[in-house]
Amino acid sequence: MVPYPQPYPTYLTTEVMIFLFLSSERRQALQNVLSKLGMEEHRSQKLRLKDVLQISPENAKSWTPESLGDLPWHFLRKIMALNGMARNTSLDYMAPDYQQRSEDKEELNTDDSISCLSDANAMNPLDVLCAVLLCSDSFLQQEILSKMSMCQFALPLLLPALDTPKCTLMLWAMRDIVKKWRPHSLAESRGFREESLVLTKMPTISFVRLGSCSFSKSKLLNDVLSPSQQHHDFFIHRDMDSGHVLRNVSDGLVEISWYFPGRRGNLDLFLEPVAVINLHGDIEPHWLKFGFLTNVSCSVFIFVESVSEKNYLLLSALKESATKYYFIFNIPTGISSETQTFCDKLISELKLNKSQLLVKDSSQNKAKFVKKLQNLLGCIMKSSPKKINIEDMAVIARELGIQVDEDCKACQTGSKWAREIAAEIKDTGKYKKAMFRLQGDPWKKLAKVEKELCQMRRQGGIPSEKYRSQLKAELSELRAQQNKCDLTDGMTPGHSPSLSFVS
Ligand SMILES: *[C@@H]1O[C@H](CO)[C@@H](O)[C@H](O)[C@H]1NC(C)=O
Ligand SMILES: *[C@@H]1O[C@H](CO)[C@@H](O)[C@H](O)[C@H]1NC(C)=O
Ligand SMILES: *[C@@H]1O[C@H](CO)[C@@H](O)[C@H](O)[C@H]1NC(C)=O
Ligand SMILES: *[C@@H]1O[C@H](CO)[C@@H](O)[C@H](O)[C@H]1NC(C)=O
Repeated sequence: MVPYPQPYPTYLTTEVMIFLFLSSERRQALQNVLSKLGMEEHRSQKLRLKDVLQISPENAKSWTPESLGDLPWHFLRKIMALNGMARNTSLDYMAPDYQQRSEDKEELNTDDSISCLSDANAMNPLDVLCAVLLCSDSFLQQEILSKMSMCQFALPLLLPALDTPKCTLMLWAMRDIVKKWRPHSLAESRGFREESLVLTKMPTISFVRLGSCSFSKSKLLNDVLSPSQQHHDFFIHRDMDSGHVLRNVSDGLVEISWYFPGRRGNLDLFLEPVAVINLHGDIEPHWLKFGFLTNVSCSVFIFVESVSEKNYLLLSALKESATKYYFIFNIPTGISSETQTFCDKLISELKLNKSQLLVKDSSQNKAKFVKKLQNLLGCIMKSSPKKINIEDMAVIARELGIQVDEDCKACQTGSKWAREIAAEIKDTGKYKKAMFRLQGDPWKKLAKVEKELCQMRRQGGIPSEKYRSQLKAELSELRAQQNKCDLTDGMTPGHSPSLSFVS
């Protein structure tokens, strides 16, 4: 903790003190996680795309991670290869290294060895993800998120404040992602739309929890978003490999996932695209993020298991907000009188409708509950809710003091240069012809002659050797023409700053 002179200056309110204390605790947790992952050096010296793409005997073979230090590389290599198991952070229990360690531990404490081992030698996939993103430069982050999106994984929208005072909105990191889908309106014509993800406006629905919750919100969301008969883990949940391990740095991570229609027949869950946001962690310590979510979403679902007076006071502040709230009460063992009292007060205070209150108890069929939620989301989307894209979210984030990754200098310069290059391109076809002079027509002619050289179809009465040397002469003539072309403006490094920038 930062030392302060005694007595404390008056501006150091309790909140500031708590913030400083928490942030020093968070710094320590981050330090621990990075050191266990062997990533400390990359905190300042960020990993670049070329560090990951480098091919060596080490990464060519398929391997299972044997120590925590393997996990970042396991994730990076698997995700680059679009492997759906990239987020599995479990270690290989058969590895000799691991067994040695477990024997050492057993000498110390036989009873606890199993549980102690499983926690000391495991890391939550969300912690690994946060650590890897923190240690990556903005171009590698872009590549990671693009690949994650291809694997249909949920993407980090707000990265927790780890090395920064505030959390960060990952706009730049999503810039490269393009989605293709078939909206209901184009189903007849079998047409589709293709658009940059960060520019696509759609209804956005958030899911958060207050206090602790004995069932997994992420798992329920995966069920809600999965098409019938197929289950896909969009969000990481506690029943996945190592998903139960305590989150040390990723608490408060906000993930976003999308549903895009495009299935044949009437198999689509929803007829138009929708974004679903999931806050990992309790809303109380993440009030700023919760404020952001209420601001960007058309509806917010709040999972609660009990409501105390403190919770009631916190939530009654929502009556000022224009967003529509839904409460999902999870009451596995019946409702306490305290919860009942404050629930009733809350219902009248926020003027909640019956439709905005859902009860999930243990007697209820899970599939039925999932269906109910899907129907509810369908209704929300039919009610012409407000639509928003990630660029709009960035505007709101800045207003609330949340950082936007794109505002950093490297991204600003990068996008300025990209805009400069793109500004010259009016007609893509013409631009390619003018700038890539060796390709286009000369290339086509060359290919034709090379093909004829193999096939000898139009030889006619000419003797083979003669015909062949004619074709060879034609080839060298075409090559000579190509060689006369100078480098065009679009090809010279001075003119394509983005290239020199990356390297
Ligand atoms: C996470 O925190 C717990 C409790 O402070 C600690 O025992 C554990 O070693 C930490 N794990 C990592 C990977 O830092
Ligand atoms: C995750 O990795 C561990 C260790 O490599 C392996 O035993 C386990 O089967 C993997 N999980 C899945 C779902 O493939
Ligand atoms: C979003 O936040 C802004 C600024 O704090 C506020 O003016 C606006 O009313 C909020 N909108 C919603 C829907 O909460
Ligand atoms: C409350 O429910 C009624 C009838 O079910 C409906 O007409 C009304 O729009 C609802 N109000 C809100 C705020 O959802």
